[in-house]
Amino acid sequence: MKIGGESYRSVWVNAEDGYAVHIFDQTKLPWSLDILRLETPQQVAEAIVTMQVRGAPLIGAVAAYGLALALRIDSATPAMERDAAMLAETRPTAINLRWAIERMLTRLRNTLPADRVRVAYEEAGAICDEDVAQNEAIGRHGVALIQQIAESKRARGSDEPVRILTHCNAGWIATVDWGTALAPIYMAHDQGTDLHVWVDETRPRNQGAALTAWELGSHGVGHTVVSDNAGGHLMQHGKVDMVIVGTDRVTRNGDVANKIGTYLKALAAHDNDVPFYVALPSTTIDWSVGDGLRDIPIEERSAREVTHIVGRDSDGKMAAVQVTPDGTDAANPAFDVTPARLVTGLLTERGVCDASREGLLALFPERNTGS
Ligand code: MRU
Repeated sequence: MKIGGESYRSVWVNAEDGYAVHIFDQTKLPWSLDILRLETPQQVAEAIVTMQVRGAPLIGAVAAYGLALALRIDSATPAMERDAAMLAETRPTAINLRWAIERMLTRLRNTLPADRVRVAYEEAGAICDEDVAQNEAIGRHGVALIQQIAESKRARGSDEPVRILTHCNAGWIATVDWGTALAPIYMAHDQGTDLHVWVDETRPRNQGAALTAWELGSHGVGHTVVSDNAGGHLMQHGKVDMVIVGTDRVTRNGDVANKIGTYLKALAAHDNDVPFYVALPSTTIDWSVGDGLRDIPIEERSAREVTHIVGRDSDGKMAAVQVTPDGTDAANPAFDVTPARLVTGLLTERGVCDASREGLLALFPERNTGS
């Protein structure tokens, strides 16, 4: 994506800088655009745990580079396996992280230690390039959905924009480029479709208010941030034409894990006949799991993310402000699972399908093992 006329990806390495891994520090956005330079797998793990880097596809890509950094320090098999496990354990819900590490290991286990650094950078680079291509394809398929809605609104004599609600941040900063849920929005906007985005603030960490609003604003896409509790009300009053969200893991039956609060939006959308789409690259599908509620591990994060809100004061300094009485207990499940029955369609790089085993297998027939 372009920021101030310059094109960026969300992760990059270059020879001039010794192949260190570069990311934007997402905990500083939208107030400043700080670039972090990571040199060790421990620094990569720390950046993922503290959510300086976040978003399912992006943490997979960054962890892949983290393994390349690890191999520069020690390319022997025991160290490689240890560091791969350490990186894979940084966050439990997003399957892309484990997928990327497994893909790296599959290639590296068949590579001589002396060649592993080169091969690891090559493979991590391929993961990044494929993520960009997949998200671009998601965007193209999603544009068609947005345009269908625009046409049906016009046919009903409406001159209003297409109003899309999104939750959390599934934009370019959560992937290597383009984003998943936001890719169709960027493309439709670039093609001249009149649209407006309702951005859920997404407590407790406010990825919507901070990151999605920043992304959309930088791209010139009209948007309004709403409190997480507003979506149902907006839908009841006919102010939402469609919902598009991203996801951290989709089961082979079409259940969807995404940022906490997604399920409530899906329920409200279902009750109000608002189409609810989930955008994902196929790297987010966990074919080994059927029942999302039972089998997807949900990350529990620090209570402090709930008891405190991070913002910027009038002097421009970032600060965490406490919003609960001293000593209040707080729980912080970071994701929830939306059952497939509430999902109108899964928007993938191969097109849109039903959120069901049959729907997914129709798009990914190579996954049909007959069981
Ligand atoms: O905890 P986060 O900010 O990493 O959660 C991110 C989300 O829930 C996104 O919707 C998901 O990872 C998809 S990003 C393309």
